Amino acid sequence: MATDASTLRIGVVGYGHLGVFLVEKILRDGPRLGLILSFVWNRNPDKLKGSVPAELILKDLSSFADRRSDVIVEVCHPHIVRKFGVHFLSQSHLMVGSPSALSDPDLNQKLCQASLQHANTLYVPSGALWGGQDIQRMNDSGTLKALFIRMSKHPSCFRLTGDILTDWTEGEGRRVLFSGSVAELCPLAPNNVNTMAAAAVAAGTLGFTGVRGEIVSDTKLRDYHVVEVEVTGPDGFSVNTVRRNPANLGAVTGTATYNSFWNSLLTCKGHGGRVYLC
Ligand SMILES: NC(=O)c1ccc[n+]([C@@H]2O[C@H](COP(=O)([O-])OP(=O)(O)OC[C@H]3O[C@@H](n4cnc5c(N)ncnc54)[C@H](O)[C@@H]3O)[C@@H](O)[C@H]2O)c1
Repeated sequence: MATDASTLRIGVVGYGHLGVFLVEKILRDGPRLGLILSFVWNRNPDKLKGSVPAELILKDLSSFADRRSDVIVEVCHPHIVRKFGVHFLSQSHLMVGSPSALSDPDLNQKLCQASLQHANTLYVPSGALWGGQDIQRMNDSGTLKALFIRMSKHPSCFRLTGDILTDWTEGEGRRVLFSGSVAELCPLAPNNVNTMAAAAVAAGTLGFTGVRGEIVSDTKLRDYHVVEVEVTGPDGFSVNTVRRNPANLGAVTGTATYNSFWNSLLTCKGHGGRVYLC
């Protein structure tokens, strides 16, 4: 569906932190790299005025197919993946920026089916996950035995659905907020566990119920988030990584994750009807 063989038409759904970043990047650097915008949608279209050319503003998301996109990038909310994911995949490749939506086994299965049926790729960006492709390789060769991910952040960086962190005080130190399966964590912290969700996609044999996760509040972490990954294989094999992701106070997303998203988008050129960690 590309404009010419080498130009990809990108539709962006959501115009928050990530959406603004990606749209600016596509408008500025895209043409040189073979990417152009097909549309931008936001639930409040007023936010787009003055920043996005009028002809690229999509008012009604249900008419997305008219814009003939090669790749649709969702950087909005898991709710939009639930509502439109299958439709998007019937027309285009989909890069799902809110992979915590995939913790719903029913939706996960529907998206995989749609991807296969329409030969369009469901891309999952690795975000702040380090070593995702190595994890996927171990998974595919049957040697992945266990996977654990801990995300530690300043309490102002968490957006939780429950009330487990309403009582934090500056200087209180470290508190484990939740430890359990990624399936249990996703509904509790949908905006903070996308990295774990990407890991659960890479580790498909363990899945969202088999991959373990932990979220930790730490008032010392004023300048960065910490992502620790522990991979276990056979016969005592293990890999432990610690990633420090610079982040401002109150920021849900570390600064390096923005560029990681951009690099993920550059790989979305079509990998057939399957789920692909990028
Ligand atoms: N994969 C990753 O590593 C990773 C990293 C950061 C953020 N994310 C996810 O990507 C998405 C966007 O992140 P962001 O930092 O740009 O968030 P943001 O809060 O800055 O922006 C979200 C945008 O979506 C809109 N929105 C929110 N809820 C909506 C709903 N129910 N229906 C329609 N529109 C809605 C908001 O108005 C806003 O324009 C979020 O789901 C976030 O959790 C993923």
